[in-house]
Amino acid sequence: MEMIYGDGFLSPGAVGTTQSLIELVQLPDGATVLDIGSGLGGSAFYLAERKACVVQGIDLMEMNVAEANRRAQVLGIGDLVAFTAGNATALPFDDEQFDIVWGQDAWCHIDDKKALISEAHRSLVTGGSLVFSDWLLKDAGSDLAEEVRKVTASANLGDVATYLELMAAQGFEVATHVDTSAEFAEGYRQVLSRLRATEAQVVERFGQKIFDIVLEKQQFVLEAFTSGLLGAGSFVARKVRL
Ligand SMILES: C[S@@+](CC[C@H](N)C(=O)[O-])C[C@H]1O[C@@H](n2cnc3c(N)ncnc32)[C@H](O)[C@@H]1O
Repeated sequence: MEMIYGDGFLSPGAVGTTQSLIELVQLPDGATVLDIGSGLGGSAFYLAERKACVVQGIDLMEMNVAEANRRAQVLGIGDLVAFTAGNATALPFDDEQFDIVWGQDAWCHIDDKKALISEAHRSLVTGGSLVFSDWLLKDAGSDLAEEVRKVTASANLGDVATYLELMAAQGFEVATHVDTSAEFAEGYRQVLSRLRATEAQVVERFGQKIFDIVLEKQQFVLEAFTSGLLGAGSFVARKVRL
């Protein structure tokens, strides 16, 4: 995935999405950030290096956590970033520990959205902000909806209304919601071009069968984006009450 998305990233928006979220939330330098679904640490490293943030990442996959911690040491920023294995729905952190809770195209994989938003809320200081981008199901009634959930490994893909309701019910004031579906569709076209351009390298490292599976899945996802079945959005919300 890194070969087609970009170094440090397991999501197609990669560093461009990190930069957009920084702007959207107007991230202050030096903020304490919790990155939920931190993957290989691409956004955490960017926030630490460019914004002097102290970032705690959490990810379900121990392999990702170990690799992200290793890279933090190599980059010499182990004092600013740390990654822990754990589940977003039961965060191993104290209440009110972070200024910002961050999510970059990871929350689609977390089925219990209510627990996710509740845990994000608990972890934030009052007045702190939640900022995330995510893949969204735009047409749940479509015959292809189940296939989209399967291919994207997201059994409970969110939608705008569900996220807005959950955040409001939890004690967030939603400041911004941006529909980024068109950007995602364009980004996915570029992902497919990069995938085709790197075919020889991917085949050499992983074999033709893996390449074909990845290509087929990525083509399906692009079609889902361009047909309007799948979309994406970015959200900013402030914790206004306990
Ligand atoms: C598509 S990747 C995105 C990673 C990273 N945010 C990025 O932009 O590169 C999704 C990540 O979410 C993690 N994840 C999935 N379910 C999770 C859960 N319940 N709790 C914590 N992390 C989870 C996965 O292990 C994976 O690393």
